[in-house]
Amino acid sequence: MRSPTDRRAKVGTSYEPVTLRPMQEHDLTLLHAWLQRPHVVRWWGPHDRSLSLDEVRAEHFPSSAQNAGVRQYIASLGERPIGWAQSYVTLGAGDGWWESETDPGVRGIDQFLCDPNDLGRGLGTRMVEALVRLVFSDPAVTRIQTDPAPDNVRAIRCYEKAGFRAIRRIVTPDGCAVLMTQPRP
Ligand SMILES: CC(C)(COP(=O)(O)OP(=O)(O)OC[C@H]1O[C@@H](n2cnc3c(N)ncnc32)[C@H](O)[C@@H]1OP(=O)(O)O)[C@@H](O)C(=O)NCCC(=O)NCCS
Repeated sequence: MRSPTDRRAKVGTSYEPVTLRPMQEHDLTLLHAWLQRPHVVRWWGPHDRSLSLDEVRAEHFPSSAQNAGVRQYIASLGERPIGWAQSYVTLGAGDGWWESETDPGVRGIDQFLCDPNDLGRGLGTRMVEALVRLVFSDPAVTRIQTDPAPDNVRAIRCYEKAGFRAIRRIVTPDGCAVLMTQPRP
């Protein structure tokens, strides 16, 4: 039997990279299921009801015009899907987000691991590092930022390990957050 320490052992092997592929419409059912899981709902909401598949489709697969600047990905470790991630252009994000931004090169990122058994084992850091590499592969990108809730200590530590630094507390349309940024290396 494995000890609790073993259960928290690192996931995967050093030669097994975390990969990111663009999310497709056929991934919506998977995403819908992941968005119902308590460890995701805790930080993503909504807290008072379940999301329908149509709501997930409307938010994550809207018309191309509404979706401009947003890139969504399914992360995998080998053949195993492990989570969802997105990057977006912060300038002009709308709905009250990042209204003081003037730099078109800034990208925001969001992500989660889909399996609660994977949390706290280093996999999220590898996923964020892979996303940062992918986002910076666009030479137009000047800076990447993220905005975890101040009490999401695990996410904040994960982002620090992936190269982000906490700048200040902010208020977003989703509530209080810690603005964390990473300039182009
Ligand atoms: C956020 C998330 C992607 C991070 O991935 P992860 O694989 O769990 O994170 P990692 O294991 O790479 O790193 C977590 C770090 O936080 C630390 N940590 C975890 N809980 C902690 C706590 N309560 N207090 C202090 N540190 C804590 C871990 O020890 C680890 O740091 P260490 O390697 O220095 O010991 C993942 O936890 C997740 O999907 N969470 C649910 C959804 C979510 O919060 N998404 C982000 C919204 S901004």
